[in-house]
Amino acid sequence: MKVCSIEGSTFGAIVEGVRLAGLSDIEWASLHRTWLDHGLLVFPGQHLSRDEQVGFARRFGPIEKLGTGEIVPISNVTASGQVRAYALGEWDDVMKVIVGNMSWHADSTYMPVMARGAVFSAEVTPDEGGETSFADMCAAYEALDSATLALVEHRAARHSLQYSQSRLGHVHREGSTYHGYGMTETAAPLRPLVKVHPETGRKSLLIGRHAHAIPGMDPEESERFLEGLVEWACQPPRIVTHRWSPGDVVVWDNRRLLHRALPWDMSRPRIMWHVRLRGDEVAEFAAAG
Ligand SMILES: [Fe+2]
Repeated sequence: MKVCSIEGSTFGAIVEGVRLAGLSDIEWASLHRTWLDHGLLVFPGQHLSRDEQVGFARRFGPIEKLGTGEIVPISNVTASGQVRAYALGEWDDVMKVIVGNMSWHADSTYMPVMARGAVFSAEVTPDEGGETSFADMCAAYEALDSATLALVEHRAARHSLQYSQSRLGHVHREGSTYHGYGMTETAAPLRPLVKVHPETGRKSLLIGRHAHAIPGMDPEESERFLEGLVEWACQPPRIVTHRWSPGDVVVWDNRRLLHRALPWDMSRPRIMWHVRLRGDEVAEFAAAG
């Protein structure tokens, strides 16, 4: 197994010479430590079947089911092969969330238990665009100036998908047909802005598009503050952007990184497969605030 740190960034590694579909226990133990160290592992050319991707994901622990199954498509193509409507005003619900996820976020922070991470693979990729970018919130926390550190320490924010989608004009209403995983969650978890990683002990900034309404701050001030913090935090050298080829697999640590998709020409198909790793029931739990 060959592990190469991604040059010029505070995190991430490219891993070659290992077959994820047939990992030995010794390889797994080494890979897990490597994942905790680097936060993001990229495995080019794995071409896993869906069952193999789920099997690899299970090595990390329980899977967080997003509605229908353990592995879900993140795709602008329907099951019958049609490219989904993307023209202004006719986006379907899947496209609304895909577009929403082009802003920095961590997965499932709007659920009572936020995700541990995800195993993500590419089946069909556009010629241009559609990359995934990741940002290192441990490195961001460690780079904070003392004034901002004093502002974030001991504060929390509410996390809600209804909030983040509504900022795009995609409003969920009672009885609406706007469906989507997490869209009907009405109790927004209150999560500290500084998260302690349960396995590495490192601190990170837990921010991103679902975070809002810091208690004790005026809502608009809170919005401006959080937007500014994301903009500052998600800058080089704390960024890695992965340009996908079919068959690539990545696994990221959602307790440390934010991520987002980059835009592409949505008349072109992009088919990705996502398995979400369920967070620890204690370390990743937050009660509604
Ligand atoms: Fe995501």
